[in-house]
Amino acid sequence: MKTSGGTTAQKRRAGEAAAALVEDRMVVGLGTGSTAAHAIRAIGERVADGLDVRGVPTSFDTRRRAREAGIPLAALDEVVGPDAPGIDLAIDGADQVADGQLIKGGGAAHCREKIVDSAADRFVVVADPSKEVPTLEHPVPVAVHPDAWTVVSEAVRAAGGEPALREASAKDGPVVTDNGNLVLDCDFGDIAEPASLATTLSRTAGVVEHGLFVDLADAVYVGTDDGVRRTEL
Ligand code: A5P
Repeated sequence: MKTSGGTTAQKRRAGEAAAALVEDRMVVGLGTGSTAAHAIRAIGERVADGLDVRGVPTSFDTRRRAREAGIPLAALDEVVGPDAPGIDLAIDGADQVADGQLIKGGGAAHCREKIVDSAADRFVVVADPSKEVPTLEHPVPVAVHPDAWTVVSEAVRAAGGEPALREASAKDGPVVTDNGNLVLDCDFGDIAEPASLATTLSRTAGVVEHGLFVDLADAVYVGTDDGVRRTEL
């Protein structure tokens, strides 16, 4: 269920603009996906030039990319807690953006993404114009405990959605997340009230995390064909 309607150049501009926000001695949450990957590469280039930074990856894929880019990494529990420095900035992509509210999880990393992005002092979304919509309507990725996929599916139907178990493409059976969960892509049509739906999903037993990111982003950087459109929220 990956979404990638934008061009590589648009994603690169957004990612590089966000990477330019990183300052010496910052702890940075590193998002997952093709747009955040541009930020990771750009931060890595700055590390090679002497930038002192630590990255907190949001997925196995991002940890690997960050290591390849030469970014020193930190575990979440090293940087968040009593006497810990905290996360200064998180940079992460999105599958859909409407008025600063997000749907994430196209890469099935939204559980750890939400933890890291919400723990950061500032969360900057990096996207291309294909992600911008007037109303969220992308199916909402819902990570579920494996035993609970039918239970959660029934709850999603009761809430007016249509769930589909995400199937793997190079493996028989379903996608299994980095945390060992399954993913239901839940089509609710137009989501007029994301906060209300987010509450309903969060209250459902068996839901590990859903991909609605409500009131979490502090800024959205959209890479265009000739620059970056920055919106502060
Ligand atoms: C990962 O699970 C997602 O939340 C990604 O952040 C999202 O799919 C954006 O990815 P792209 O930048 O590749 O579109």
